[in-house]
Amino acid sequence: MSNPSLLILPGDGIGPEVMAQVKRIIDWFGANRDLGFDVSEDLVGGAAYDKHGTPLHDDTMAKALEVDAVLLGAVGGPKYDDLDFSVKPERGLLRLRKEMDLFSNLRPAQCFDALADFSSLKKDIVAGLDIMIVRELTSGVYFGEPRGIIEEGNERVGINTQRYTESEIARVARSAFELARRRGNKVCSMEKANVMESGILWRDVVMEIHQAEYADVELSHMYADNGAMQLVRAPKQFDVILTDNLFGDILSDCAAMLTGSLGMLPSASLGAPAANGRPKALYEPVHGSAPDITGQGKANPIACTLSFAMALRYSFDQGDEATRLEQAVEKVLADGVRTADLMGPEDGTPVSTTGMGDAILAALDASL
Ligand code: NAD
Ligand code: IPM
Ligand code: MN
Repeated sequence: MSNPSLLILPGDGIGPEVMAQVKRIIDWFGANRDLGFDVSEDLVGGAAYDKHGTPLHDDTMAKALEVDAVLLGAVGGPKYDDLDFSVKPERGLLRLRKEMDLFSNLRPAQCFDALADFSSLKKDIVAGLDIMIVRELTSGVYFGEPRGIIEEGNERVGINTQRYTESEIARVARSAFELARRRGNKVCSMEKANVMESGILWRDVVMEIHQAEYADVELSHMYADNGAMQLVRAPKQFDVILTDNLFGDILSDCAAMLTGSLGMLPSASLGAPAANGRPKALYEPVHGSAPDITGQGKANPIACTLSFAMALRYSFDQGDEATRLEQAVEKVLADGVRTADLMGPEDGTPVSTTGMGDAILAALDASL
């Protein structure tokens, strides 16, 4: 049988820096666990714009649709701020999500014991935290029509439309309920049904799917603003949080800080299962291209590393190897190895991005 295929898109800013470490980890699994991948690499975001004048070349899009999984670093940066909206780096990522139909974005926020002291919240609020945000990723206000900037009278008007169909809500709800059954069996759905019709429909459809197919799962509802507050007040009340595209974007950055740093949070974006039973899938850290630390060897490669662990689990049926990698990260943190984002100014000397990669590889070696 041929090796599974993996398309790597490092992207911009710290994307290539963190991906360089993950490529070493991928090679480690090939050399030590007989897990070979047919790896190819291409451009996305500003890097693709610089070469092709578009943030995602059609050939790259076609390749992404063919492979078993895509692993992406990050896109964007100030260099591209003044580009026309249609060719901004972020459009490349949004096109990938839309055309691969990756409607279910899994963003786990786990607080490793070794980092419980470092969160901006009190230790007992976050210690042992393990929540999963399921963010709808291919619809809502990110994609709704009409949109644009128009002239009206003597001023400009910016327009975006929040739009959800029943089937779009139903499919992401199912994915949240399925996940909950394999975890703590609880789903909290977040919208603003108090002010938005799309929120009313969201709540109705989630309740219908729950009653008809997942009555064994505990379901609750929360307005998303209260949800944001509850996430920092008492995050351990949650197991799976189900929410729309925009609320999910914001709530997941917020959840990142519960784990200590945005540099810790991985994600998996999954579509419907294909003929081979596997979903189309793209894995990427939740963080962006971090222009403020680009080129300084400061980026934390753990979010991208854990995104590859999610690929092992969800795309390649390698749950045990995913756990091996997650435990290697846990061990490194327990040993006190820290990139700069995981320590205060008084806490000693941080390791570089490569230093963190070295430590994870050493922990993988020790796991054999
Ligand atoms: P950002 O996530 O890039 O950075 C926010 C803060 O977190 C910065 O201080 C940064 O230094 C820090 N940070 C992020 N990742 C880190 C890591 N791995 N290690 C250490 N520190 C880390 O968000 P931003 O500054 O708002 O956005 C910068 C650019 O990235 C924008 O162009 C934005 O559109 C883009 N972006 C891309 C993605 C993506 O590709 N998936 C996600 C978010 C933002
Ligand atoms: C994310 C990012 C993206 C989003 C941008 C870069 C398109 O913030 O993945 O969280 O808004 O979805
Ligand atoms: Mn975001």
